[in-house]
Amino acid sequence: MEVTRTRKGLRAFTAAQRAMRKAVGFVPTMGFFHEGHLSLIRRAREERGAVVVSIFVNPLQFGPSEDFGSYPRDLDRDLELAREAGADLVFAPEVDEMYPGGRPEITVDPGALGDRYEGASRPGHFRGVCTVVAKLFQTVGPSRAYFGEKDWQQLAVIRRMVADLAFPIDVAGCPIVREPDGLAMSSRNVYLSPDERSAALSLSRGLLAAVGRLAAGERSSAALEAAIAETVDAERLVDLDYAAVVDAETFDEVEEVARPARALVAARVGKPRLIDNMLLDPAVGENGPDMGTGAS
Ligand code: PAF
Repeated sequence: MEVTRTRKGLRAFTAAQRAMRKAVGFVPTMGFFHEGHLSLIRRAREERGAVVVSIFVNPLQFGPSEDFGSYPRDLDRDLELAREAGADLVFAPEVDEMYPGGRPEITVDPGALGDRYEGASRPGHFRGVCTVVAKLFQTVGPSRAYFGEKDWQQLAVIRRMVADLAFPIDVAGCPIVREPDGLAMSSRNVYLSPDERSAALSLSRGLLAAVGRLAAGERSSAALEAAIAETVDAERLVDLDYAAVVDAETFDEVEEVARPARALVAARVGKPRLIDNMLLDPAVGENGPDMGTGAS
């Protein structure tokens, strides 16, 4: 596995792969890998001739009061894990390398989709995500890029950006990877104290409560949202931001779950803000969903 800190090195690598007629798979990350990230890299390895992973904590997508400075970082460990998972190249630039002129003047507007839910709670977040991902796409030139479904709204925004700006890239969404007890894996879980870790389980429990109510015949989004909120609010250490049932692509609110929708939850648990989501499929019966412990 090769490592480069420069866009020039990245370009040279991907140009060489394309010259050898290898399709490039790309996994953009902010590092501090867990099984969710590694599942993306492994899938890219299976599906593409060359696998590029970027590790870059992007300042543009953090608000002034957010955790850019303290976001967990461990490049040496990440490089070892990326190599084991099958990456061919890791691109790990410094901020100056990505944004040599400082904060870019021209950025990518994520549109209305970027103003809701995560976008409402984190103003400017999706503009920062779209801008860095567009720049990475331009530099890497992958045929397919891999994103975790834990950031469901991010995945929807990226898909929309790729469609609207005609990037010739296939976007693959990969299932959430959970701890055995159901907690969605996240680099920010490392901030949780043992008590907060156990309280954080209320997010997946709340989503499962909604899935269970749906399987039992409840179709009202308000009732399903209440099932999530009640479960999360029962935990003293958890401060609910939103519990919502939305159209899985547009993020429009739905009154009744008549076709597959997405249940979303976001909450602050101690220091970190955590998010999770699950499919709400009215066709799934009492046996409930596959929690997919294999899944980010
Ligand atoms: O999901 C992430 O880790 C980041 O938002 C991404 C896509 C790497 C852009 O910085």
